Order: sequence, then C-alpha cells, then structure tokens
Amino acid sequence: MNINKIQTPCYVLEEDKLLHNIKTFKEALNNRFNNNILGYSVKTNSTPVLLDYINKEGCYAEVVSYHEYSLALSCGFKANRIVYNGPLKNKETFLHAIQNGAYVNIDSKRELDWLCDLPSEGRYSVGLRVNLDLQKISPDDCKDKEDFSRFGFSSENEEFLEALNYIRNLGNVNVRGLHLHRTSKTRSLDLYRNICKYGIKIVEKYHLNLDYLDIGGGYYGDLPGKPTYQDYVDTIADSLSVYFDTSKLTVIVEPGNAIIASPFTFYSSVIDIKNIGSNRVVVIDGSRNDIDPFFHKTDYFKSFIPVQKDRLLIPRQVFVGCTCLENDRLFVLNNHYEVRVGDIIKFSFVGAYTICLSPLFIRYFPRIYVQNGNELLLSREEWTEKDYLQQNVLNS
Ligand SMILES: Cc1ncc(COP(=O)(O)O)c(C=O)c1O
Repeated sequence: MNINKIQTPCYVLEEDKLLHNIKTFKEALNNRFNNNILGYSVKTNSTPVLLDYINKEGCYAEVVSYHEYSLALSCGFKANRIVYNGPLKNKETFLHAIQNGAYVNIDSKRELDWLCDLPSEGRYSVGLRVNLDLQKISPDDCKDKEDFSRFGFSSENEEFLEALNYIRNLGNVNVRGLHLHRTSKTRSLDLYRNICKYGIKIVEKYHLNLDYLDIGGGYYGDLPGKPTYQDYVDTIADSLSVYFDTSKLTVIVEPGNAIIASPFTFYSSVIDIKNIGSNRVVVIDGSRNDIDPFFHKTDYFKSFIPVQKDRLLIPRQVFVGCTCLENDRLFVLNNHYEVRVGDIIKFSFVGAYTICLSPLFIRYFPRIYVQNGNELLLSREEWTEKDYLQQNVLNS
C-alpha cells in the first residue's frame, strides 16, 4: 500500500484478508453441515462498507438492536438473511422480522407478549435464547465464580418452561430453534463441546423438534497456536451428531472477532515529542479510544513506518494518545530507535470492538479506507462538527 495516500489517523480495511476469513470459515462449515449460516456479528464492527462485503459474500447479519436491524436492511440484507438477537429489539422491528422470515431469538418476556400482536391468521417461527450458566455447564471456562449470564431464559428454574408454554399456548407460533451464545475468555473447544451437550439436554428435556441451533460467536481468528475455524466447527459437529442428524439440522454461528479483527489496521502519525523527566513522550494523532476503547490492553500488534536504523537508540519512549486523558498512554518502547514527528505507527488486528465503541470524545470519527489490491478507496470521510451537529436543534 502506498502509505503517502492515506491521511492519519485512519483505519484501513484490507479486502483480501476479509474475503479470506469469510471463505475459510464458510468452507469449515460446509465441510460438516449441509445447512449452515454464517451470521456475522454486526455489533463487532458495523462499518457500512464492511456490511456490504458481508452481504455480498452470502453471510447473514446477526443484529442485536432495532438500530442494527434497520442498518442491516439499509445495507442491503433481506430480512430473511438476518438473525435478530438481544434485549434491545423494539416491537415494530420484532414483528417485521418474524413476518419476513428472519431468525428471531427471543430474549425476554416483553418479546413474548409482542407475539400476541402478530396477525392471527399467519403461522410463525421463533427461537429462544437459553441462559447459559458457565459454572454449571463448563466450569473450566468460568474464570469468575460469581459470574452469571444475564441473557435468555434459564432452564435451571421455571423461566424456560414458562416461555415455551407461553408460545405453545398461542397456537400459531412454533419454537424452531435455540440460541446458545456464550463467550468466555478461554474461547476453548471444550466450551463449545459443553454448550452443545447442554443444548441437547434441553432439547431432550422439553421434547423440542428444532430446525436450527444457533451456537453464537466467541471464536478465535486465525491465530498461531489457537483453534482454527475448522477445529471449532468439527467440535460442534461431533458434539451435535450424538443426538442430531447433522445433515438436516441448520447450524448458525455468529462470529465477530474471528472474522473482523485481522482485516483492520489503524494508522497514526507522531505529532509531537516532549521530554518530561527521564521520559521522551511521543504524542500520536490517534488515541487509545481508537484501538482499545475498554482501556484493557497492555500492548498492541504494532510496527513503525519508516524504520530508519540510522537513528539513535533511546532508552525509554512513552507513546501517548492525542486526547486530554492522563491514561491515554499506549505503550513504552525501551532501547528503541528514536521516533520522530511524522513517523507513522501501524496497529494491526484492530477490527473488533474498536470502531463501533469509539466515543465522540474531543475528536470525531476518523477516516476509513478500503484497500483493494493496490487501490485505496476512502470509504468514510473524517467526521467534522457538521456530522456531530446533525439531528441537533440549537436554541437560536
Ligand atoms: C449474541 C452474540 N453473538 C455473537 C457475538 C460475537 O462474539 P465474538 O466477537 O467474540 O465472536 C456476541 C458478542 O458478544 C454476542 O453477544
């Protein structure tokens, strides 16, 4: 890529990496399931040009709010290629989704009540999100013993059965699927083995006759030493085949991070250098908000452009972001070549839970480019105060 063509700070979406991830995940699914759906988790990164690729590559959109549902429709997904999850549905989009063939996984009691507003002459299908208690189903994946999931209906008490009975009593709605999403920090294969086992237990206990199981997201991307997409799919297929005819069952997966972390890179320029005590402080035009909005990370996949080895070695350089937050400090370089104003830092693997979580703090949203071979296209212009002011009404 010709680095001179970009204006920092910016993200670059590399088309070939995105297409590779989608193709490899789809191949893994096709190897084991005749009927499968790759439902990309829109919340992980909802950049419109990305959703356009996802749609054109034949993936579904997995959405978790009425805004995301409408966004998916606006970006070209047909309703019957949407998986609609989460507690932030509204009645209008919920009813629209069910009537237009989306996979709708009910998460709460208020959604059960909305089912009564479906036209009575029709026949409808929904899924139910199962509350997954890691301590019970997969203790090795549960780091915090106090932890519990707040989503879905628990079959450890009466709530799941009540939801099921509520739907059965309606007469015109059928439960055709279960939503079994649960992430854990381990992202282990055992987690998926245990989730599948638990799903089967529920199907047996309540005598369910299902079309689909939605196993959710939470997979590693293509990282050395970690399970591959095929490892995950094989684990799921082997675990489900104990009970299901996997040539008939539809399996849905909802990867976010595994698809989109690696295709996005963030570029930021050094804009100032100052010396404070023994620290050489390097200020960049990006911020932790751009690449680590939870402020959790202690280091980044990073490289420097250009790396000019004729420079002095500096004992300690502290890299800080452009905001006025004291803790907007990114990393420290010890005994490294001197970094100067104008140098560019490239942060890799930043596509997941970054762009969609960046606040409008001090500086507005940065540019997004798409790299397509040698071509670089500007997909989102930098936001200005005009974009910030939209939908606002001033007093005078
Ligand atoms: C319901 C649901 N599906 C899919 C995902 C995507 O998870 P990941 O990005 O870890 O694959 C999430 C993330 O929390 C989720 O809540």
